[in-house]
Amino acid sequence: MPGNGRGGSGGNEGGDERGEGGKDVVRRDRFSGGPARGFLSSLAADERIFGADVAVDRAHVVMLDEQGILADGDASAILGALEAIETAGHGALPAGEDVHAAIETAVIERVGDRGGRMHTARSRNDEVATCLRYRLRTDVLEAAEAAIEARRALLEAAAEHAETVMPGFTHLQPAQPTTVGHYLCSYASALARDTERLLDAYGRINRSPLGAAAFAGTPFEIDRERTAALLGFDGVIENAMDAASARDFLLEATAALAALSTTLSGLAEDVVVFSNAGYVEVDDAYASTSSIMPQKKNPDTMELVRATAGDAAAGVNALLSVLKGLPRAYNRDLQRAHPHAFGTVDAVTEATTVAAGAVATAEWRTQRLEAAASEGFTTATGVADLLAMAGVPFRTAHELVALAAERATGPVEAADLDAAAREVLGSGLEAHLDPEAVADALDPVESVRSRDSLGGPAPGALADTLSALDAGVEADAEAVRDRRDALEDAAAALEREVSRRV
Ligand code: ARG
Repeated sequence: MPGNGRGGSGGNEGGDERGEGGKDVVRRDRFSGGPARGFLSSLAADERIFGADVAVDRAHVVMLDEQGILADGDASAILGALEAIETAGHGALPAGEDVHAAIETAVIERVGDRGGRMHTARSRNDEVATCLRYRLRTDVLEAAEAAIEARRALLEAAAEHAETVMPGFTHLQPAQPTTVGHYLCSYASALARDTERLLDAYGRINRSPLGAAAFAGTPFEIDRERTAALLGFDGVIENAMDAASARDFLLEATAALAALSTTLSGLAEDVVVFSNAGYVEVDDAYASTSSIMPQKKNPDTMELVRATAGDAAAGVNALLSVLKGLPRAYNRDLQRAHPHAFGTVDAVTEATTVAAGAVATAEWRTQRLEAAASEGFTTATGVADLLAMAGVPFRTAHELVALAAERATGPVEAADLDAAAREVLGSGLEAHLDPEAVADALDPVESVRSRDSLGGPAPGALADTLSALDAGVEADAEAVRDRRDALEDAAAALEREVSRRV
């Protein structure tokens, strides 16, 4: 393939270097110096993986040293340079096609050509794939932590409002009474799956491609498991061509984030609608006002949370489009894939944190909700259920209650049901039902109490749901902590190996 010959070496300045043994060598810069230089470069966007690249370089150098691949003193020189480069930061890097090339150039600038040994037995292809996984895994943990915070906020409000009745809606129309607690648990439950998806994705992100080199492995006797362990990966992606090429981990993480964001967009939409109806009021800190209409308090943060799901969907689409049809092995298209994943994780994590704060501080208007709970004959299903329990086929009961609703001029009362019963069943309501039971069925509070099937809104059922969801949150929080601890342990082990050499 013409024009593809330049491997992973850095050196985008094209300057001369002092070779080992005092011989001047020209660091060739045959390509990427022309008008397309900026277009080719991912250096600015690579700031995101600067720290990752330093870590990956360190682990690789430690492993090369352990395997006897480096000459005496090389590891300590290179690791010393990396320390200084890390301290100086991404902004101090020399020009380069990307962060990998720029760091290598900076190492060579500091220690001379021996610095070029850092890139032994690897390629930027396995290097970038490793950096992306290294960085994205902590970003995904942060997103999971935000989701866990949102779940905690929802569950706390749900416990507080376990018995606050409210109208539940289908098609945006009042449908059946439920409780604020039951409603909020519905989102805590969905967010539990969203968290689970993120943690699942984490398991597949956290595998090391390092050592795959360009895609075909290397003749050097490297230890891929060792670099994987030093970098906190749970294992390696074995097939070198797959390891260098695969970006499904970006897609999977972004898709999981999009699912989370889509869940939150529903919650946000509800809060916007409920604010409008006076059912809930977001705290001032989560609202905004109008520059012209002085009376306005708008739930803008929730609208932005709602919109973030659009950004996340765009991220998924962008990744699918960039990745679709890419041939094996590495293609530069991949450079344009990762910003979509990082952009999505940032947007969704922030939106999740904001949503958690809005939920934690929102005021539920108990009286307004209770009054609204019976508006629109939301207890109709309960009456039909009661008739069905008394032996009337449910479809007939449904018809009877529908008739009463159709005929009633105001809120449906026992008398309306009685007239409908005479018409549909040929006998009055009292022939089938105890009047007290009818009164209860028409009362939203009693209606909620009666629905104590598994997962229902009755206090007992809701208490079970709440404790299961609480336990789930704690289990997930621990799962995240375990992963963070494992990463910290690996970082400390790498740090020890580095400090033994510098
Ligand atoms: N900046 C590149 C990327 O993000 C790094 C890999 C470059 N590899 C190559 N063969 N050109 O994908």
